[in-house]
Amino acid sequence: MLKSIVTGAGHYLPERVVTNDDLSEMMNTNDKWIVERTGIHERRWFTPGVDTVTSMAKNASIMAIKNAGIENKAIDFIIFATITPDYFIPGNGVLLQRELGLQGIGALDVRNACSGFLYALSVADQFIKTGMYKNILVVGAEIQSSALNKNDEGRSSAVIFADGAGAVVCSATEEEGRGILSTHLHADGDFAEELYVKDPGSSREVRVSQELIDSGSFNLSMNGNTVFKHAVLRFKEVIEEALATNNLESKDIDLLIPHQANLRISQYIQNKMDLRDDQVFNNIMHYGNTTAATIPIAISESIQQNKIKSGDLVCLAAFGSGFSWASAIIRW
Ligand code: UT7
Repeated sequence: MLKSIVTGAGHYLPERVVTNDDLSEMMNTNDKWIVERTGIHERRWFTPGVDTVTSMAKNASIMAIKNAGIENKAIDFIIFATITPDYFIPGNGVLLQRELGLQGIGALDVRNACSGFLYALSVADQFIKTGMYKNILVVGAEIQSSALNKNDEGRSSAVIFADGAGAVVCSATEEEGRGILSTHLHADGDFAEELYVKDPGSSREVRVSQELIDSGSFNLSMNGNTVFKHAVLRFKEVIEEALATNNLESKDIDLLIPHQANLRISQYIQNKMDLRDDQVFNNIMHYGNTTAATIPIAISESIQQNKIKSGDLVCLAAFGSGFSWASAIIRW
C-alpha cells in the first residue's frame, strides 16, 4: 500500500532579531509581561529588500530537498501554506516554483492560517496515497511583521506574531510500518471574526481607501482570550482523535510538535495529556508565532537536534484562525 513519509525538512529565519525590550520601545509592553503570558523572548522580523515570503521559502525548500537526498527536478508538486503572500494574486506556490526552476509542475496555495501547514500536509498525503505524485514539497512561510499594528492598540498581537519559513519533502513509500498514519482536519466558521484581517475584502465598493485604512480594518484583529480558550480544548481533542484512530495512547508519543501559538497553550496540553518535557517540542521562545511556518520550522530543528529518529512516533497539531484545527500522526 502506498503511503507518504517525510524524507527531508528545512527552515529559514530572517536575520533580524527583535527582543521584547526592542518591542517595549515601540509600544507599552515589557519583557516580564511577554515572557509570562506567551513564553516568547525574541522573534525574527524580515528585512525589506532582502527577505520575501518566496525567498525565505526558497531557502527552506532547498534545505529540505537536499536533506531528502533528491534533486529539485524530482519534486512533482508544490503546496504552499501562507496567509501573507508576496502578491495578492497569484499565490506564492507559483513564485516558489519559478525560483526552484520547476516550471510546469502544479502549485497549490493553502490559506488556513495557523493550521495551514497541516492542511497542506494532509492534501500532500492524499495525493501521494492515490499515486498521483511521488515527491511533494510542502511549505509554510510567513511575513507577519509588516501587518502588525506596532502601537499600544495592537500590542497583544504584535508581541506574538513573527516571520519565518519551513518546508518538508513528502515522498511515496511502500515500506511497511512507516509514514503518515492519519491526518485530521476541522474548522468552525462561527468564529471567523475572532482572529482575522478584514481588508482588502472584495465585498465592498472600494477595496482600499484612506477611510478603511484609518478604521484599522487592514490590521490583524484577535480576541486573544477566546482564541486561547478554544485552542486549549481543540488541541487536546484533535491529538486524542489522532491517537484513538491508530489505537495509540499519549505515552506512545515520542515527540509532540504543537503549532507554536503561545508557550502557555503548549504547557497546558502537555499537562492535560501527562506528557514529559522531552515529549514536547517548543521553540516559540526564540521565534514567536510564525503562523503556517511554525510546524515545519520545528520539524526541521527537531531533526537537527536529534529529537526525531527513525521509528519515532511524531504527532503534529495546530489551531488558529477560522477557527481551524488539525493534527497528523507519523511513524518516522
Ligand atoms: O496562532 C493561533 C492564534 N493565536 C493564539 O493562539 C493566541 C491565543 N491568545 C493568547 O496567546 C493570549 O490571549 C494573549 C497572549 C494574546 C494575551 O494574553 P492574556 O493572558 O489572554 O491577556 P489579556 O488579553 O487577558 O490581557 C491581560 C492584560 C490586559 O490589561 P488589563 O485589562 O488587565 O489592565 C491587557 O491590556 O494585559 C494587557 N496586555 C498587555 N500588557 C503588556 C495585553 N497585551 C499586552 C502587552 N504588554 N503586549
